[in-house]
Amino acid sequence: MTLTPRPGILEVAPYVGGEAAIPGKNRVIRLASNENPLGPSPRAMAAYATLEKEIHRYPDGDARALREAIARSEELDPARIVCGAGSDELIALLVRGYAGPGDEVLHSEHGFLMYSIAARTAGAEPIAAPERDLTADVDGLLERVSDRTRLLFLANPNNPTGSYLAEAELRRLREGLPEEVVLVIDAAYAEYATQDDYCSAMDLVAEFDNLVVTRTFSKIHGLAALRLGWAYCPPAVADVLNRLRGPFNVSQAAQAAGIAAVKDRQHVERSRAHNARWLAWTLERLAALGFDPRPSAGNFLLVRFAEEPGRSAEAARAHLKKHGILVRAVGVYGLPDSLRITIGTESETRAVVQALEDFAARAAAGAAAEPAAGSGAQA
Ligand SMILES: Cc1ncc(COP(=O)(O)O)c(C=O)c1O
Repeated sequence: MTLTPRPGILEVAPYVGGEAAIPGKNRVIRLASNENPLGPSPRAMAAYATLEKEIHRYPDGDARALREAIARSEELDPARIVCGAGSDELIALLVRGYAGPGDEVLHSEHGFLMYSIAARTAGAEPIAAPERDLTADVDGLLERVSDRTRLLFLANPNNPTGSYLAEAELRRLREGLPEEVVLVIDAAYAEYATQDDYCSAMDLVAEFDNLVVTRTFSKIHGLAALRLGWAYCPPAVADVLNRLRGPFNVSQAAQAAGIAAVKDRQHVERSRAHNARWLAWTLERLAALGFDPRPSAGNFLLVRFAEEPGRSAEAARAHLKKHGILVRAVGVYGLPDSLRITIGTESETRAVVQALEDFAARAAAGAAAEPAAGSGAQA
């Protein structure tokens, strides 16, 4: 007998996360998954540690204290908050709630990969709209809307490009969409964005009954291992997510650590300031070395490399790996000439820049030895 899954399931290419280990190397610098290099708040770690003797108990299925803590911290309505095992779970639940076979789920060309994966697992078709200068394009998105479109996902800031849309563009997008299309703004990196015209779109949720914002504890809060995310929703969408989610989808450890994390504003501030400083430093250093880093509103940089042997993104990735540094290849995002590099601690950041300086020098030396291959292109 051959078991047959639902049509389309076997066509889903599973998400592959950033590399986390190098065989034979004990000390690895992990800059492949946009984690907070400063780790979680000490208060979150302490809260997590207190749960050791309680792990035989089911968690609070409503995550009430956590939702209230988030609501207090962000000045929101706790009834509109739905928590999930990472924002990945909420993305998948939103798709399952609103799309199925025959429907379309829209996202931008280089948008976060989970949108197309979630669409396919629900039997819906993901549709990619072209971007402009590696930035989501409102007109391009609106042109791709059809009468089968059910959801539109926009990561803001976007992973892996680091680009974002300002509030006026978000409004133009919402106002240009049919009312029955759910607009999901995925603000996983919201806390890192320092740009004056950036907005996490929380206010828009109160204004429109078809706009959802998702957030995560995996990035600035440094709790990726615990799997914790949340969605801020119109009441009808919160109701749908609450019916779909598992009754105990968020562990008590995640809830306890999450409550402590949102209360520790100092840790968030420290992490934001660290990122702003070393993101700017890395951008400047890489540009000075002749690479092509893009401005970023997140905790990572997308860096483009020359498409030549010895200078390519793949050559750079292999060089970094040899030096014990893991960064993210982004070919699956349609960007085979680029790498995504997370901003690490000061020493990690200096190490990656040093290794790329060495890579550029070797490439230049190679080009000098073989003038035909070089022709003065960037490293
Ligand atoms: C844009 C974006 N959204 C969502 C996620 C998923 O985060 P979580 O760990 O909350 O599932 C990520 C993780 O990299 C991301 O980059």
